[in-house]
Amino acid sequence: MKMQKKFNKIPPAKRAAAKAKIPLYQREFYSWLYESPRLTRWLDRQKLLNIVTFGTSGQMLRACAAEIPAAADVLQMGATFGDQIGVAAAKVGLHGHYDLLDVSMVQLRHQRNKYCYLYPFMRFINGDASVPARKKYDVVICYMLLHEVPSQTRAKIVNNALDCLKPGGKAVFIDYNNSPIWNPLRWLVKIFNRLYQPFAEKLWHNEIKNYARNPAGYYWRKTTFFGKMYQKVTVTRKEGLY
Ligand SMILES: C[S@@+](CC[C@H](N)C(=O)[O-])C[C@H]1O[C@@H](n2cnc3c(N)ncnc32)[C@H](O)[C@@H]1O
Repeated sequence: MKMQKKFNKIPPAKRAAAKAKIPLYQREFYSWLYESPRLTRWLDRQKLLNIVTFGTSGQMLRACAAEIPAAADVLQMGATFGDQIGVAAAKVGLHGHYDLLDVSMVQLRHQRNKYCYLYPFMRFINGDASVPARKKYDVVICYMLLHEVPSQTRAKIVNNALDCLKPGGKAVFIDYNNSPIWNPLRWLVKIFNRLYQPFAEKLWHNEIKNYARNPAGYYWRKTTFFGKMYQKVTVTRKEGLY
């Protein structure tokens, strides 16, 4: 009885997260956002994303979609707000597959309502990207997820993305980068991260490559956006060598 009373005092979004299989970091730091359908609907606007990313969001989502060949088998780890998934799915086309994996049912339901009629080749899977995938893919997308997770989970996600590539496949990571000290917005982002994204700064100080079990077995191509504030890392396996 006492336990039930205590449980009822927890905010509804956190309670829903506790019932579902949602990782601890998400329950503690992001459930107010990702377990709230109303806030999700409100924030899911490309215009808003363009404002908070200083106009770079559109550029990054197009750079991500450019890595996808038509009719590819794609896995995306973690849902995103705005147009990113729609633009990437349009690139895949009717002859491909697009699996969207997310730990949050609230996010998956929201994405399913948004895209299921538009892109019937999309599948919405409730699962954790830090657990090895059962299928192999041509392209694995990990878009603004790594900075939200603790380092140990980050390493698992990076390695799972690489392990589930088909021969000739590629992994695409889009995330924050360690911007130079002359970038004035670095300090604004730093304050925001300190307040709301406790694991993000660790990604500034470590290259994505360093989380891989066998980095030498892959080609790593890195490009940056907006004064090096964001990065896109495209990874392909060195076929026949390893
Ligand atoms: C991919 S990030 C996107 C960040 C930012 N909101 C955006 O739109 O660019 C957030 C999503 O990843 C999901 N997520 C967090 N940890 C995950 C994990 N281990 N496996 C799969 N999805 C995860 C969250 O539920 C959330 O929907």
